[in-house]
Amino acid sequence: MTRYTHGQHPTVTDSYRWRDAENSVAYALDEMVPGRSLLDVGCGPGSVTVDLARRVAPGRVTAVDVSAEAVELARATAREAGVEGIEFLVADVHDLALPEGSFDVVHAHQVLQHVADPVRALSRMRRLAAPGGVVAVCDSDYSGMYWYPRLPELEEWMRLYQRVARRNGGEPDAGRHMLAWARRAGLEDVTYVAEVWNHSAPQDRAWWGGMWARRILESDMGRQALEEGEATREDLERISAGWKAWSEEPDGVFVVPRGAILCRV
Ligand SMILES: C[S@@+](CC[C@H](N)C(=O)[O-])C[C@H]1O[C@@H](n2cnc3c(N)ncnc32)[C@H](O)[C@@H]1O
Repeated sequence: MTRYTHGQHPTVTDSYRWRDAENSVAYALDEMVPGRSLLDVGCGPGSVTVDLARRVAPGRVTAVDVSAEAVELARATAREAGVEGIEFLVADVHDLALPEGSFDVVHAHQVLQHVADPVRALSRMRRLAAPGGVVAVCDSDYSGMYWYPRLPELEEWMRLYQRVARRNGGEPDAGRHMLAWARRAGLEDVTYVAEVWNHSAPQDRAWWGGMWARRILESDMGRQALEEGEATREDLERISAGWKAWSEEPDGVFVVPRGAILCRV
């Protein structure tokens, strides 16, 4: 059993609302065509789910998340966006009890890095995809992230995140594991795609840096780091100040590499 490192604090879930099909699922957009059925695993607050649902309409869409809180947020996102008909379920991807072969597209974004057994999760996703369908999965790779300037507080943040995520049973460098996990899960026709998020324009920098400056103090990751003796309050305050300084740095660059797999079943 893993513990979800980020939790559902608004500093976390609000940051996911920036995500949409274009900026997060570009590698699989050709598969998201009208009429296809879609399963979105680990939907979180649902901004990606809702955008994908618009693309596959009138196709059937099911969204699942292990967190009931996340499912409620996703339901509200769909309601606010006026997107109807998405079926929402609270379930763990490892034992997802849905009919085998029942979806044209089985998708997960930023989920496998948090699960106890990514190979078992992928194997379950493979069985839920219909023959001729696809499994499309993408995750960041923390060790591959780079930024400028190389503020020591951000290096400290990275080391702390890695420790907390691994303690929770996750794999923060999931992006580079994706092809190996897919093949171990029995997926044979797999294309590996590398993509990036680039948070280096002034507005993005202010948003991303400001978000982490708050998130490290207020969300589950900071709380877990304190509880587990991985950091002190002073450490978190210092890291938060580092993020704020980075967000105000006119030459600041932050790049998040993401590893994706598109698997034909
Ligand atoms: C980083 S969020 C990504 C949310 C959304 N896919 C997005 O990209 O905005 C990861 C989500 O996966 C969910 N999750 C973690 N472990 C899971 C599991 N074993 N089964 C299903 N969902 C899980 C978490 O509750 C969380 O909402």
